[in-house]
Amino acid sequence: MPNEMLHLPKVDCLLKRYKGSPGALLPILHEIQETIGYIPDAVIPEIAHALNQSQAELRGIISFYHDFRTTPPARHILRLCRAESCKSRGAEQLAAQLRERLQLDDHGSSADGNISLRPVYCLGACACSPALELDGQVHARLNAERLDALLDACREDA
Ligand code: FES
Repeated sequence: MPNEMLHLPKVDCLLKRYKGSPGALLPILHEIQETIGYIPDAVIPEIAHALNQSQAELRGIISFYHDFRTTPPARHILRLCRAESCKSRGAEQLAAQLRERLQLDDHGSSADGNISLRPVYCLGACACSPALELDGQVHARLNAERLDALLDACREDA
């Protein structure tokens, strides 16, 4: 049994709790992700069966919502703001810097499992843009050097 399954709330308990509730799927998926950090593929068949949906439908829904992860999360989550204010003040250059340095698309995890990138659309720091959130902490007035320093700190943490 994979290690993460030890921490997974019993899916059948979750399914019983939400049985008959309209719109039960998203709360179930959120609860699983909050508990173990992602939604393992192993839970899909049981959920699909209980909710009378196909596994393909379920996988489609999970992939539609970018906040759902199907692989274990990286050690660091970096969310670069891509909304207007940040865009107009250099967010696209920072995104290119991230793509090049981490060899990633705008949404994914580095091969070493150290950093996951996610776009976000406004962090409420527009007056100090461009901004990003790293592990829940907002960093504003970014430039290439400050971004490099944040990435270096993540690497040292690994
Ligand atoms: S637009 Fe980036 S923080 Fe608001």
